[in-house]
Amino acid sequence: MDRRITNLIITGFSGTGKSLVAMEVALRLNWNFIDTDDEIVKQTGKPIAEIFRQDGEDKFRELERETIRKACQRRQIVIAIGGGAIVDPQNYELLAKTGLIVCLEAKPETIYERLFREAASSPDREVRPLLAVDNPLERIRQLKASRQPYYAKADWTIHTDGLSVGEVAEEVIRASRLLSRTDSSQLSAFSDKDIACVVETKTQSYPVFVGQGLLDKLGEKMKKTALSGTATIISDENVLSLYGSRVEGILKDAGFAVNSFVVPPGEETKSMDYAIKIYDFLVEHRAERDDIIIALGGGMVGDLAGFVAATFLRGMPWVQVPTSLVAMVDASVGGKVGVNHPEGKNLIGAFYQPNLVLADCQTLTTLPQRELTSGWAEVIKHGMILDEEFVQFLEGNVNRLTKLEPELLTRAIARSAAIKAQVVSQDEKEREGKRTILNYGHTIAHGLEAATQYKRFLHGEAVAIGMVGATKLSQRLSLLPSAAVERQQALLQKFGLPTGFSGLDLTEITRPMELDKKTKGKAIRWVLLQDIGKAVIRSDVPQQEVLAVLQELAEP
Ligand SMILES: NC(=O)c1ccc[n+]([C@@H]2O[C@H](COP(=O)([O-])OP(=O)(O)OC[C@H]3O[C@@H](n4cnc5c(N)ncnc54)[C@H](O)[C@@H]3O)[C@@H](O)[C@H]2O)c1
Ligand SMILES: [Zn+2]
Repeated sequence: MDRRITNLIITGFSGTGKSLVAMEVALRLNWNFIDTDDEIVKQTGKPIAEIFRQDGEDKFRELERETIRKACQRRQIVIAIGGGAIVDPQNYELLAKTGLIVCLEAKPETIYERLFREAASSPDREVRPLLAVDNPLERIRQLKASRQPYYAKADWTIHTDGLSVGEVAEEVIRASRLLSRTDSSQLSAFSDKDIACVVETKTQSYPVFVGQGLLDKLGEKMKKTALSGTATIISDENVLSLYGSRVEGILKDAGFAVNSFVVPPGEETKSMDYAIKIYDFLVEHRAERDDIIIALGGGMVGDLAGFVAATFLRGMPWVQVPTSLVAMVDASVGGKVGVNHPEGKNLIGAFYQPNLVLADCQTLTTLPQRELTSGWAEVIKHGMILDEEFVQFLEGNVNRLTKLEPELLTRAIARSAAIKAQVVSQDEKEREGKRTILNYGHTIAHGLEAATQYKRFLHGEAVAIGMVGATKLSQRLSLLPSAAVERQQALLQKFGLPTGFSGLDLTEITRPMELDKKTKGKAIRWVLLQDIGKAVIRSDVPQQEVLAVLQELAEP
C-alpha cells in the first residue's frame, strides 16, 4: 500500500454512519478502530453535549485535537472523527498527512431520518442537539452547507443514501485500494491544492477551484460537493461548440445524467425571454429540486444560468464553470445573478451563491484576444483596491501573463478571485458598503458605456479608462501622488488596455452618472485610491473636478 495510506479516516456530517462504518472497515481489514467522540466521552466521563454546556465548544475542540493527534501516531487504524473536526486546519493537515480521508455523504432528508430513528430507538440517550431546534431539517441543511468546503477536501466521497453499513464499508475499502495504486501526482488532484479560496457568506460556503486542465475534474469535484442527479449544462454557441462534448463526457463518466441547453452568444441573450426558454426546457425534462444547473461560459451565461438556478423550483444547486477571464475573476464569484431589462442592465436579479466554482485557465487559450485584454482590467482593479503586492506581481510578469503561461496565469487568477471572494464574504448583499470598493473605475465606466449604447467599449476597456479617471480625481483631491497615477496607467497600457477616449460629448458621459445618483437621492459614491492597494470611498467630489478629469481623459 502507498506510504500515505497508513490509516483510514472517516469523516462526514452527523448521521452519515461514520462510527459504524469505521468499525466495520476495521473489522474487515483487521485494523484497529477509534471514534474520537467516544474517546473523549471515555476520557472525561461526560457526554459530548455536557462538555459543550459546561466547558464550552473551545474546550471540546481542544480535547478533540489532542485525541486526533494521539490517534495519528498509531498505524493501521481506522479513525472516525466528529463532524466538525476537519474544519480545524491543524487537524486536517495532520490527518491528510497520515492517512486517506474518506467523507461519508447523505442528503439532509436522509440524515434527519437517521438521527430521528436513532433518537427514538434509544430514548434514554440525550436528543442530539441538531434535533432539538424548531426546524431540524433546515438546521441540518445550513450546518452541512457551511461545512461542505471542508468535506470537499477529503480524498474520496461516498454517497451513503440507500446503502447499508456493509456496502459503505466495502466502498471505503475499494477507494483505499484504488487510491493506493494511483501515483502521488494523481492523488494531488484530490487534495485541496487547486482551491483558490473559499467564499463564506451567511447563506452558503463554497470552494473556488482554479487550475490548468481542471475541466477533467469537474465530475469528481461535484461529487465531493455532494451534488448528484441530472446536470443541465447551459452555455452559449461559442463555448458549447468548443467544450460542450468534453464536459458532457466528463460528467457522464462521473455518473451524472446530462442535458445541454445552448443560447446565442452576446449580451442580448441575458434576458427574461431566454430565462423563460430555459425554464421551458427544464419543465420538459422534468428537472427536480436536487438536480444541478451548470453555467459553462462567460459572465453572460453565468448571470443568466444563475438567475434560472435561483428561481426555478425556488432554487436549485448550481455550479459555475467560467471560461472567460472576466467570469473567472469577477462574475463567477459573489453570487450576483440576473438578467437585463430593456430599460437597464441587470435590473432583474438576485443574490444566489453557487455550490462550487471551477475555473480551468486552459480555456482562456480560445478566448478572443480583445475579451482577454478586457478581463485583465478587472484583475488589475483587484490589485489596485486591496493588494499592492499583487500589483507588483502583475507588473513583473506582464509578458508571461499575456502569453498565458500556465503557472503564472493560474496564480494571477487565483489571487484575483480570492480578493473578490474576500470582499463579498464580508458583505454578501452590498448592504454594509464594503462591497462598494469593487466599483473602483466603474462610475466613469458606466458613463462611457451608456454614452456609447454599450457598443463601443467592452466593459473592461471602459473600466480601465474609469480607473485612470479615478486616480486622476484622487490626485486632484490630494489623496494620491502623481507617481501612483502614472504607475497604474503604465500597467494598464502594458496589458493593452485603453487609458483615454476621443470623440465623445462629455455631457453624454455625465448624464448617466447623474441618473444613477438621482435614483439613490444621494451624492455619487466615488471609489478613489489613497495609495496603490488602498481604496477609499468619497461622496464629496466636486462636479467641476469630475469634468476636468473627463476633459483630460478625452484629450488625444
Ligand atoms: N455577476 C457578477 O458579479 C458580474 C460581474 C462582472 C460581469 N458580469 C456580467 O458578465 C457579463 C460579461 O462577461 P464576459 O465578459 O465573460 O462576456 P460573455 O459571457 O458575453 O463572453 C464574451 C465572449 O467570449 C466568448 N467566450 C467565452 N469564453 C470563451 C472561451 N473560453 N473560448 C472562446 N470564446 C469564449 C463568449 O461566447 C462571448 O462571445 C456581463 O453580462 C456582465 O454584466 C457579472
Ligand atoms: Zn466590472
